[in-house]
Amino acid sequence: MRSKIVAGNWKMNLSQAQAQELCREVNNMNIGSGIEVYIFPPMLYVNECQMHATHVKVGAQNAYPKDSGAYTGEVSMWQLQEAGVTAVLIGHSERREYFRESNAFLKEKLDAALAHGIKPFFCCGEPLEIRENGTFLEYVKQQLEESVFHLDGAAFKQVVIAYEPIWAIGTGKTASAEQAEEMHAAIRSWVEEQYGKEIAENTSILYGGSCNPGNAQSLFACENVDGGLIGGASLKASEFAVLVAEETWTILN
Ligand code: 13P
Repeated sequence: MRSKIVAGNWKMNLSQAQAQELCREVNNMNIGSGIEVYIFPPMLYVNECQMHATHVKVGAQNAYPKDSGAYTGEVSMWQLQEAGVTAVLIGHSERREYFRESNAFLKEKLDAALAHGIKPFFCCGEPLEIRENGTFLEYVKQQLEESVFHLDGAAFKQVVIAYEPIWAIGTGKTASAEQAEEMHAAIRSWVEEQYGKEIAENTSILYGGSCNPGNAQSLFACENVDGGLIGGASLKASEFAVLVAEETWTILN
């Protein structure tokens, strides 16, 4: 059975003291049974959060594919592994947009993460104009084909996919449950074509984009939505607590 996952992407937010406090609060939350919780703090706080997080997993928001060398400002997958970090975000739309990360570069990152035993949360999703011109399925399929589907089945099994439509990120405009389910079902069907039914059924596909206590229940109740990658609502303990709570997952399921 595939994992249900709620992951908080804190992005470039919070002071050190705020991060410590939020980490403590998340770690003490009442987490629904069978739900895995991850937090992705800014890199500077990853180590410290890791030391204090006993009930939730801590990942990095980014890492560089080369192991070491003259790459000023970067942190490598190898260094994450050394530090005991077990998960990494790859392909977030903010990195694609602001740091010009291409599908080919993301493929390198994915390979490096897997080579170091780090679980990749691979993010994909279309911009508004692609949603509006109706080619969003093709667009996301291409992202997966160019960055992910070269993996063999054993490697792919480690990957979590996060569908984050760019028009829904930080905008307060969430994909409807129908829009999310359509994309998630399509992603699962492409995974099945590539890797077979068993792997497809066991792949966790998360939704991200203005997911909050008001809409999480209807999104998480979708057959092919296995949880969320949460931005804004992960910074507020009271909101994140609702997303990881048993009731949010059970009432509609
Ligand atoms: P918001 O939840 O703030 O829309 O952000 C989603 C996101 O980008 C998570 O990675």
